[in-house]
Parts: sequence; structure tokens; C-alpha cells
Amino acid sequence: MQTTIFPLPSFQLSSVAFFGRGFEEYVSMFDLDADALRGRRVLDVAAGPSAFTAGANARGIDATAVDPLYGLSPDALTTHALIDHRRVVAEMRRKPELFQRGTFGSIDEAVAARAESARLFLRDYEEHFVHGRYVGGALPELPFADGAFDTVLCAHLLFIYARQLDLDFHLAACRELARVSRGEVRIYPAAGADGQPYPEIDRLRAELAALGIALETRPVPHRFFVGSGTMLVLSSRRR
Ligand SMILES: C[S@@+](CC[C@H](N)C(=O)[O-])C[C@H]1O[C@@H](n2cnc3c(N)ncnc32)[C@H](O)[C@@H]1O
Repeated sequence: MQTTIFPLPSFQLSSVAFFGRGFEEYVSMFDLDADALRGRRVLDVAAGPSAFTAGANARGIDATAVDPLYGLSPDALTTHALIDHRRVVAEMRRKPELFQRGTFGSIDEAVAARAESARLFLRDYEEHFVHGRYVGGALPELPFADGAFDTVLCAHLLFIYARQLDLDFHLAACRELARVSRGEVRIYPAAGADGQPYPEIDRLRAELAALGIALETRPVPHRFFVGSGTMLVLSSRRR
């Protein structure tokens, strides 16, 4: 008898999308205490058109964002954001079973929040790129000194794009995130595009432990994408 294996539904994009979330969504994705971060240096890696950095600076947090596309003109980034918004939203609407009510009451509500995030980002980028708030750079080599930031955040790049980015990339990226942080690194979500835990997590944990970097999984209040109720936290034992 032939057995048919049905693959788990998965959020599929052919390349990493320039698509971002807002300040409040970051607070719940990373379980942040925004008051405690006031005056602290925070880095958002793979920040895309996220409005976290704009919102954080407006609240007295010394936040910087880094993304490979920063350095392009505001017009060029607007085009990237518009095209990728359509691409991501089309995939969300194709696979509503991958989303649950919680942080948002519906997919439409989430789509509107992310469109607003891109709008806030583009306005802030236009004004503050020249001040170094938005820096061009890519993992696994970031253009920052060792321990330059109190907290480092990275959302929706690692694990989610495991089809495109292999274990070596994930290991080098985690190492680099830990290098530029003098505190914690928080990575969200701790799940892949199918909402399942990263299959190589045990190897990643072992390789990082050998480098003196501890990896733990922590619950977060955010609920939207399936399996997205946890983040990974890296902390360097050699600090
Ligand atoms: C899906 S967006 C995530 C945006 C934001 N972090 C969020 O969660 O809302 C992924 C971002 O990763 C950026 N990216 C792609 N390759 C990267 C790399 N090697 N290092 C850092 N960022 C990268 C893309 O340009 C894109 O803006």
C-alpha cells in the first residue's frame, strides 16, 4: 500500500520580503518593557519597513535599524515596500489557516497595521537616514563594534526563511548578533514558515554553547502566525 505524506501548510515566499511591523507589535513579539528600554541602545536587525525604530526613538529609546536595502532612496524603498506588501498579503489570504486571532482580530486588521507601519517607517527614514538611524548592512557581518548595543532584536528573517538560509548562515548570524550585543539578543519567532520549531535547533544550540553563547526559548504574548508564541534569547556567558 502506498502512503501519501501531506506536507504541513507553510508560508511560502520565493525571497525575503521587505515587509514590516509596528512598534506595538514588536513589544508583543519580543515581550519588551518599553519603559525599561528608555535611554538604552537597541538595534533592530533585518528591520525592513518596520516602524519599531521610529516609534522607539519617539519614546526616548536610542534605537538604530539595519537592513541590506537601507541606503536606497525613499522612492526606491517605497516601491519595494509596496510590491512586497502585495506579495505577502496575497500569501496570507491564500493560507488563512496559518493565522489565528489574538493580537489582531482578523487578517484585514493585521494588513492595515503593517501598511501603517510602512508609512511611518518611510516618513522616519526620509528624515533620519542622514542621522545614522537607518544603516545599510546584512547578516552575517554587521557594521557595528563589539557590544555596541544593550539589546539586539531580529524578527522574521532567521528560521522563517530556512528554505533559503542554511544552518551555517543561522549559526554565523546568531554569533554576529551576540557579538554586537552587550546584553540579550531576542529573535522572533522561534518557528519556521510552517509554524514548527526550527529542525536544526539542537545543533544550533550545541554549536553556540561551544562559543559561550546560551540559547533559550521564552514565551511571548504575541499571537498571530501559528506557532509564533515563542522567541529565542541568546546571551553570551563570556561577558
Ligand atoms: C520580513 S522582513 C522583517 C522586517 C522586520 N524585522 C519585522 O519583523 O517586521 C525581513 C527583512 O530582512 C532583510 N534581509 C534580507 N537578508 C538579510 C540579511 N542577510 N541580513 C539582514 N537583513 C536581511 C530584508 O531586506 C527584509 O527587510
